[in-house]
Amino acid sequence: MVVRIGVLLVMLVAQVSADQAIIDAKARFHPLLAGSGMVVSQERLASEVGAAILAEGGNAIDAAVATGFALAVTLPRAGNIGGGGFMLVYLAEQRRTVAIDYREMAPRSARPDMFLDAQGNVDTQRARFGIDATAIPGTVAGLLHALERYGSMSREQVMAPAIALAANGIRVSADLSESLQARAQRLLADPASAGYFYRADGSAPAIGSQLYQPDLAATLQRISDRGRDEFYAGKTADLMVATIASHGGQLDHRDLASYRVVERQPVCGSYRGNTVCAMPPPSSGGVHLIQMLNILENWDLRSLGHNSAAYLHRLIESMRRAYADRSRYLGDPDFYQVPVLALTDKGYAARSAEQIPLDKAGDSAAVAPGLELQESFETTHYSTWDRSGNVVSNTYTLNFSYGNGKSVAGAGFLLNNEMDDFSAKRGAANGFGLLGEEANKIEPYKRPLSSMTPALVFAADGQPLLATGSPGGSTIITVVLQTLLNYLEFGMNIAEATAAPRIHHQWWPDKVFWEQGISADSRAILTAMGHQFELAPRVLGATMSVSRQQQWLQGAADYRRSEAAAAGAY
Ligand code: GLY
Repeated sequence: MVVRIGVLLVMLVAQVSADQAIIDAKARFHPLLAGSGMVVSQERLASEVGAAILAEGGNAIDAAVATGFALAVTLPRAGNIGGGGFMLVYLAEQRRTVAIDYREMAPRSARPDMFLDAQGNVDTQRARFGIDATAIPGTVAGLLHALERYGSMSREQVMAPAIALAANGIRVSADLSESLQARAQRLLADPASAGYFYRADGSAPAIGSQLYQPDLAATLQRISDRGRDEFYAGKTADLMVATIASHGGQLDHRDLASYRVVERQPVCGSYRGNTVCAMPPPSSGGVHLIQMLNILENWDLRSLGHNSAAYLHRLIESMRRAYADRSRYLGDPDFYQVPVLALTDKGYAARSAEQIPLDKAGDSAAVAPGLELQESFETTHYSTWDRSGNVVSNTYTLNFSYGNGKSVAGAGFLLNNEMDDFSAKRGAANGFGLLGEEANKIEPYKRPLSSMTPALVFAADGQPLLATGSPGGSTIITVVLQTLLNYLEFGMNIAEATAAPRIHHQWWPDKVFWEQGISADSRAILTAMGHQFELAPRVLGATMSVSRQQQWLQGAADYRRSEAAAAGAY
């Protein structure tokens, strides 16, 4: 078999054997014959790492773990070992989907009022950028859990590419240079972050220069050598606790040692005969994805026309209802009984659909809680698919872009600011403008509510059809919803489904955020019905998807992120 492997891949993965595979990256839309492997992520080098693992004979889980560690090097604003996330794994032989929850946990010192000032108001600076915004990271435990339970390769094999990227340096893309420039104020305030990501004069690394991360390479090497314990109880733990203490933070060794990964039942529903599975609480993503699909299934959307005013109205009103429920009922299921079955019940959806007036906008009737959509939504998603039909859909994050901006001195990685995903005060908005109540209040060892929505779709015969997910904070759920509807309802292929312009509504603020491409005619009709439109401050989401369509396996990397790439192994 002919072998075409880029120089970079030869450097990264020395032992791709001659008769194994052709690896082909960079493509935005990448159709291959079924029986191939595919990795789609927000950053090209990481996609190539995953594809190389598939080419070496690894399965989708091996590729997902390798891609996750690689993104921690190549996409420091969202790829991480200092954050947490969710992974859905479809195991082809067992025809079973597993939901791995490696969301961060609040340290035991956490209290419901920990971010309130003397007047009882939320101190948003501390909740978002202070050291106590950092929750116990879950990524290392989560990725290694997936590898040990469902992977086929050794830790050393899947971590070697990430270690090489950190040690040998990565070429700085325009995307990386610009994002570091955009966050310079926050990151330069922290000497460790300044040293890791900026030049001596405080400027961001130039496009085309090399970014070397020797401390991160050493940390990854220690984890590769010693496993999970290195991160939660070894030298890395010591460095993390020392950094946090130096900033006056509380998170300590006991907290790190207490971290645990949880395997949960995915939340599944059906849409026009297909099965849709996504992440259950503590993500709100799966519940509200299914809830909105259930409501929307009550109308013949296709006959209304894609992104017509009539269609968008139904979409907006479904979103309004789902996000109102989110604020009341969603939280960590280990602390609060989330009514998952009731919220995803078809009867409840039918009643909601009946109550939606079709001639005028609904009314969120909420008091302005403050901040609206303004943070950059830098979570990241990737999907992997192997030749045996195992599939992984993984979303992980530091919360805001570059987390709270503080790096672990000597260990080379950024800390998350996931504590802001809790509800710091009943009815006060978090950094994504989301409201919360009792269900998501801060408690020791609790997991903050998330919107991350890794999702899998299955055909009526049970075979996987689609893996997708997105970054975008509160917009993640509505972005995934529209991708699924584009694909399942409007018959688009996954590239078309990815590219189509999107909207977002989240109950509060009572506005429809829209992307360029939503027609002025549709907006005019909807405005006359009482909807308020606001151009989204930036694009909505960035899906990284793999789908199966007839004999094709198709990867689609969203053009909304300039370095995103689908890498095939065949
Ligand atoms: N940190 C964003 C989310 O989990 O939804």
